[in-house]
Amino acid sequence: MTHTIRKATADDAGRLAKLAAVTFPLACPAGSSPADIAAHIQNTLSERHFRAYLADPAVTVLVIDAGGALRGYSLLVDHPAQDPDVASALTILPSAELSKCYVHPDHHGLGAAAELMHASIESAAATGAAGMWLGVNSENAKAIRFYEKSGFSRVGTKSFRLGSTVEHDFVMERGLG
Ligand SMILES: CC(C)(COP(=O)(O)OP(=O)(O)OC[C@H]1O[C@@H](n2cnc3c(N)ncnc32)[C@H](O)[C@@H]1OP(=O)(O)O)[C@@H](O)C(=O)NCCC(=O)NCCS
Repeated sequence: MTHTIRKATADDAGRLAKLAAVTFPLACPAGSSPADIAAHIQNTLSERHFRAYLADPAVTVLVIDAGGALRGYSLLVDHPAQDPDVASALTILPSAELSKCYVHPDHHGLGAAAELMHASIESAAATGAAGMWLGVNSENAKAIRFYEKSGFSRVGTKSFRLGSTVEHDFVMERGLG
């Protein structure tokens, strides 16, 4: 795949929403309710939501752009962790949040995710962060393995509400030095 990794702009909001609708379900545990997944997409990952993320100065969205088709994205948040479980677990501060990291399934296992991670780490380091943290569903073994390969280690847990159920996320962090 010939592609570039670049910062997203407001023009990408619609395509990001379409990509997010394909990739978010892949991160959910097998037993998740389709209705809860659909509601989460509608409530947090619509074009309108991406427009707001892209307009937020604390947010950076990076995309894998393959000739105009978006094949992956990451979303970084540059402000202190609000969740008290996360705040108490982190050991490397200040820490940027890797809030979203998703690659289209046609491009899994091909190294694109590692390139996206590399660019995300560089972007966070450039804002002055000393560390990066993320939450990952405790059943998402593939993503956990990918994050371990990317230098993250588990430092705690947090809860994540998906519709009517509470999911348990691992909190992972790495240094950027
Ligand atoms: C997470 C994601 C970005 C990683 O990208 P990727 O291209 O699949 O990553 P890689 O292939 O480099 O690494 C995945 C690793 O998990 C391993 N793996 C795959 N399926 C696995 C499973 N069911 N259990 C354990 N490990 C698994 C792979 O073998 C590989 O490890 P290896 O290189 O040591 O063999 C991508 O899979 C994705 O977008 N997934 C869907 C969305 C998601 O879950 N995002 C993260 C939300 S926090």
